[in-house]
Order: sequence, then C-alpha cells, then structure tokens
Amino acid sequence: MNKKYKIAVIPGDGTGPEVVKEGLKVLEAVASKCGFQYETQGYDFGGERYLRTGEVLPQGALKELANFDAIFLGAIGHPDVKPGILEKGILLTTRFGLDQYINLRPVKLYDERFCPLKDKKPGDVDFVVVRENSEGLYKGMGEFKSKGTSEEIATQISYNTRKGVERCIRYAFEFCRRRNKKKTLTLVGKTNVLTYAFDLWERTFYEVAKEYPDIKTDYAHVDATCMWFVKNPEWFDVIVTDNMFGDIITDLGAMVQGGMGIAAGGNINPDGVSMFEPIGGSAPKYTGKNVINPLAAICALSMLLDEIKEPEAAEMVEKSVIKIVKEKLKSLGAGRMGYSTTEVGDLVVKYL
Ligand code: IPM
Ligand code: MN
Repeated sequence: MNKKYKIAVIPGDGTGPEVVKEGLKVLEAVASKCGFQYETQGYDFGGERYLRTGEVLPQGALKELANFDAIFLGAIGHPDVKPGILEKGILLTTRFGLDQYINLRPVKLYDERFCPLKDKKPGDVDFVVVRENSEGLYKGMGEFKSKGTSEEIATQISYNTRKGVERCIRYAFEFCRRRNKKKTLTLVGKTNVLTYAFDLWERTFYEVAKEYPDIKTDYAHVDATCMWFVKNPEWFDVIVTDNMFGDIITDLGAMVQGGMGIAAGGNINPDGVSMFEPIGGSAPKYTGKNVINPLAAICALSMLLDEIKEPEAAEMVEKSVIKIVKEKLKSLGAGRMGYSTTEVGDLVVKYL
C-alpha cells in the first residue's frame, strides 16, 4: 500500500486561515491527480488561543508536531497581542524546537508585469536564499545592564557555532548542486565589520567548497547584496547567509519577485519535520474579506510537496500558479487581483 502522509495544519491568525484553506483545496486536488494519500490534523495555535488561554504553545505540542511528515502554517501575529509574544512563542519555538535549521526562500519572478524593477524579466529574477534558521542574533543571547537608567547598556549577541554554520553551508552546496542552474553559491556576510562571526562563516565556506569543485563560489557583503538585488538580480543563483541577514534580504527578495502575495518559504530540518509558510504576515486589515492573495500559501504547499518527495505534484502546483499569474491576475496585491481569494484557489485547481 502507498504511504499516507500526515500533515499538521496551523492556520494561525488574521488571513492565515483563508490562505491555508485554499492551499488545502489545492492539496486535495493534486493528491487525487497524482494518486497519493494524506491526512491532515489542525492545530489552533495563534493569537486567539493565546488570548483565550494565556498559552502560546501547549505542553507537548512540539513532541506531537514531530510525528508529522510536514507542517503547513498560515500566519502568526495578532493585533491585540504585544509584538514578540506569538512570534517567539510559536514561530521561533517551533523552528528551534524541531531543529529546522534551514530557512529556504526562493525568489522567483513569474511575470514581468509584477516586478518593480525596470526591464527585468522572469529569467532575471530566479534565485534562492538559504538562511541559517537556528543561531545568530535569533539565539536570544544578550543582556541589559543598568536597565532604565541613563547608563543603560543592551547587548545582543550573534551566536555562531562551527557545527551550525557548517551544516547550513553544506545544505546550501548540496541544494545548489541539485538545483543545477548557474551552479554558483554566494556567501552573503559582512566580513569587513563582523570580524568574528563572518570570519567563521568565511573559513567554513571555503573549506566546505573544496568538496564541491563543480560549484562556483562567490562572496558579497550584505549591504552590497541589497544593491545588487535591485540592480543585477540575474547575478544570483543560490545565496547562503546567517539568520538576521537572511531575514532582511528575503523581504527585499519578496518585493523583487512581485510582493508578499507570492513569496513562500520553508523551515527545514533535512532529517526531521519541516514547516512551510507564506512569508507575509497575518494582514489583519484584510481578514475575512476574501481579498488576500493565497498564492504565497499555495507556493508554500508546492515546497512542502517537494520536501515530502512528491516532486511531480510540487511541479504541477507551481506550473498552475505560473499560468494563472501570467494569464489571469491583474495584480498580486490583496484586493487588486481581479479575483477573490477563493476564486484564485479555484483557478489553481482548474489549471492543475
Ligand atoms: C520571518 C519573520 C520572522 C523572523 C518573525 C515573525 C519572527 O519576519 O519569518 O521572516 O524574523 O524570522
Ligand atoms: Mn522576516
């Protein structure tokens, strides 16, 4: 008998449930076309639950999530909850707790009409950022001294281990090889200022590179990288960088590929359970209006299918997304697509 995938679903806050619903609609259709079986289990983690119970993640939640083949997440963030509580308590706790040490963020333009850069075509914007997802400034190390006084000092430490940096860089080389496009891996850092952290990154990068003679290596400072994302995005193939820089440059990447309506990412544990999400937030102002673009969530689903080893299904979903982006949508922004959230989901199903 064929395997039956177990998928945990966390719709979350704001427009999260609306986009997840469209993702699940597409999953049902593609599963029947490709002939695989799955079951889903929903979890109500998010702002509403927190306001009701005072609990971000219940006891044992991570242990339970660890038993799934993948996790499909909508969005986390609630206007009535102080910023940081849900982000740290749910999103970062899951990333860290399930050791999802890679944050994989493709930046791919599907139609030139939606690129804010002049004269850039789909082939010009097609790269992937491999963001370290378990260390760096996100580790939460640091302290206040003399808090609240005029002498106050706040430190926030970037924590980088050889093992943590090496496993991320190794993943990026393997990914670049498998992707088999320009076969170029660019390390993005700040070696001219962050002379401890990025010294470790740089040494590790060039050591690991010796095992991948087929992959060209390159280095760029993070500030210059922002410039080139706008000026020459076609230079990039695969980028590897630390947690904070990866966070920042992938928001810029999302804009270059057409906006948050289309940007997806995966929090990946190559030996465990990975979690896939649209990278935009919970967009409270659009909640319940049936106007949010579900394509980012549907692209996240495509990444999920790839990760659970259903590459045909993944490709089928991506091709359908490309077709409706090119042929149907007026815009990728909420309320301006020319279709409602549910209609866009229906179109993706129709063109599978
Ligand atoms: C992201 C988000 C998160 C991050 C926040 C919500 C904690 O910005 O997934 O990029 O900083 O990683
Ligand atoms: Mn971010």
